Amino acid sequence: MRLIVNGFGVVGQSFAKLLLSRSEDLYRLHGVNPRIVACVDKGGCAVSETGLDLQRLLSTKKLSGTIGVYNPGNHIFDPLRLIEKVDAEILLESTPTNLDNGEPGISNIITAMKSGKHVITVNKGPLALAFPSLIELANYNNVELRFSGTVGGGMPILEFAKRCLRGDSIISFHGILNGTTNYILSKMGEGLTFDEALNDAKHKGYAEATPSLDIDGYDAAAKLVIMANWIMGMKVTIKDINRRGISQVTLSDVKRAHKNGKAIKLIAICDKRQLAVKPTELSYVDPICVDGTLNAVTFSSEYSGNHTIIGHGAGGIPTASAVLRDLIDIRDTIFERRQTADLKSD
Ligand code: HSE
Repeated sequence: MRLIVNGFGVVGQSFAKLLLSRSEDLYRLHGVNPRIVACVDKGGCAVSETGLDLQRLLSTKKLSGTIGVYNPGNHIFDPLRLIEKVDAEILLESTPTNLDNGEPGISNIITAMKSGKHVITVNKGPLALAFPSLIELANYNNVELRFSGTVGGGMPILEFAKRCLRGDSIISFHGILNGTTNYILSKMGEGLTFDEALNDAKHKGYAEATPSLDIDGYDAAAKLVIMANWIMGMKVTIKDINRRGISQVTLSDVKRAHKNGKAIKLIAICDKRQLAVKPTELSYVDPICVDGTLNAVTFSSEYSGNHTIIGHGAGGIPTASAVLRDLIDIRDTIFERRQTADLKSD
């Protein structure tokens, strides 16, 4: 399978590293042989019909800060034209999340789907702003749009709800979808002030480049949009989320909750009454009351009760593992489609 990778930051580079270390496994266990035939970052692009040398791509990025110098003399740089013209089956969209207008991710995704390419996105922006219409466009163009890595990093939150609970009916869910705010609130539980905890999170590289995305609940709201659409069949965007972040949570709020056997967490909730992100007091014995950068979600289902999934919801390599999951899924879907078509033509 040939891929175009647009955005070569932490996740894009982790994906290349994972391909290098797992290529034999991927072929032996799943029969897939992914090749990156084009890569784009802010500084330019690298293209090779037979597949880029990933080791060289990674070292070029490390040494020059851009992969634009990978092909000497290559000055052609129109990312949308490249997506249209390069022969590939899949676009991996891994440019940074932009919740104002979704760009450049939204144009990259639309261009890819219109030119018959499947899309894997780890960029939440386009989905938060336009989930229903992007799914419609994917269906119209008969391509797959996959996004496992947008919620929970490498944790299979979306798959757990969609596949493992198939046959049941999910009534509601709630959980911690943002690791940075969970880390900040956990540190406040240890006595740090909000500002101290935020600086610590920035120092450790947990917070988004624009910390407001985490602190003001935008990141959790974007993930809630994706879950509400994909799992609950709602047709909503980020405008429909009732959102409150953690910037008003004080050390004395945290201490007061602690005296009552509770912790304050930024909770995303989807039930009959609300679609919201807000600081919420949770009992310490609640299974989703986890600390540090962990994410946790409880699904309440009609027939099999409550199920909680807990894990590390961020990080380059875990998120890249979700991309591989999507890739194998897309390959399986293509295969099934071909079989169905063959059966019909017999
Ligand atoms: N800033 C996000 C978080 C990264 O802290 O959860 C993963 O989406």
